Amino acid sequence: MDKIRVGLCGLGTVGTGVVKVLADHQARIRHKLGCDIEIVKVLVNDINKPRDIIINKDWLTVDAAELVSNEDIDVIVEVMGGIEGTNKLLEEALRNRKHIVTANKDLMAVYGQKLLKLAKENHCDILYDASIAGGIPIVRTLVDGLASDHIEKVMGIVNGTTNYIMTKMTDEGLDFDSVLGEAQALGFAEADPSSDVDGLDAARKMALLANLAFKMELNLDDVKVKGIRQVSQDDINFAKSLGYTIKLIGIASMHNYKAEVTVEPTLLPMDHPLALVKNEFNAVYVHGEAVGETMFYGPGAGSLPTATAVVSDLMEVVRNIRLGISGNAYIDPQFKRQLKANHE
Ligand code: NAP
Ligand code: HSE
Repeated sequence: MDKIRVGLCGLGTVGTGVVKVLADHQARIRHKLGCDIEIVKVLVNDINKPRDIIINKDWLTVDAAELVSNEDIDVIVEVMGGIEGTNKLLEEALRNRKHIVTANKDLMAVYGQKLLKLAKENHCDILYDASIAGGIPIVRTLVDGLASDHIEKVMGIVNGTTNYIMTKMTDEGLDFDSVLGEAQALGFAEADPSSDVDGLDAARKMALLANLAFKMELNLDDVKVKGIRQVSQDDINFAKSLGYTIKLIGIASMHNYKAEVTVEPTLLPMDHPLALVKNEFNAVYVHGEAVGETMFYGPGAGSLPTATAVVSDLMEVVRNIRLGISGNAYIDPQFKRQLKANHE
């Protein structure tokens, strides 16, 4: 196999980044994989929309059904968003034996377990590291890097838009609406930004993190969530006068074999490591029984950081195809290592 062919669903903030990362890092990717990754189709809403990127017009299509059944496509990269329609599309893709990489936490929080099962049945991978904390490889860290440990708690800032808003309101005294507009213009916010400001985006990510950390099947309804809409400039100033700052913090912890997951605006001392995480950056603390406290920090949203995570997952899909071990990603790393060892 000298090339892997990709059907890209979505050419917005993240999709454009994926095209750029694949083009700018083509030689490095080829060197690492021993083959090329080539985009052959790009699904969009509107073929005639002006784009910030120069792209082969022949790639563009609005025919989703054709894309997921196209025999020339090995992997679907889903960066268009949406839940119900997108789920149906990806189910169809898996039945057609296409591997999937997605940045869609909304979808994975609702249908993730079913899609993972369907992927395994069809010997396909579905990887979603880009859907949680953008450029931080936190999914890989939980399922692989810390696989030997018993994870007791995961906590952090997992939404870039709200962290951007809280940072600008705190450090520059800017008002909520204008900073939300900035976050939208920078491509950090969701298509419906109420997902960000009402805490739902963070709640979905925390449910996914809890599932990975504690091997559970939680969904959005299991998360107690409160967004930042009610946090006023007066609240921020009052907190500041006491030496505190306010951040939207997600916490997932295990108590007596029961998981508790919350997302809410939280007072933090100004010198707390999470208080120092600014703008669209995210940070995730993971506490393991053996390892103790670890912290992962990086850009949580934006075109190239998110695209980096997408393309890294895409490279993992390619390695698995070449090793003949697709269908085991994010499920059982020990088993996967054994398969790799057997293959080598
Ligand atoms: P976006 O800028 O709004 O882009 C969405 C793209 O998908 C557009 O190109 C749009 O086509 C296309 N699209 C949407 N619905 C479609 C449909 N039903 N059929 C065909 N094409 C469709 O969104 P984004 O910010 O890149 O986010 C994409 C996904 O990544 C979302 O799931 C989001 O939650 C996730 N994500 C985003 C970030 C970030 O920083 N933005 C970070 C991590 C994860 P047109 O261009 O023709 O309108
Ligand atoms: N809207 C999301 C955020 C994008 O602001 O964190 C990254 O998942």
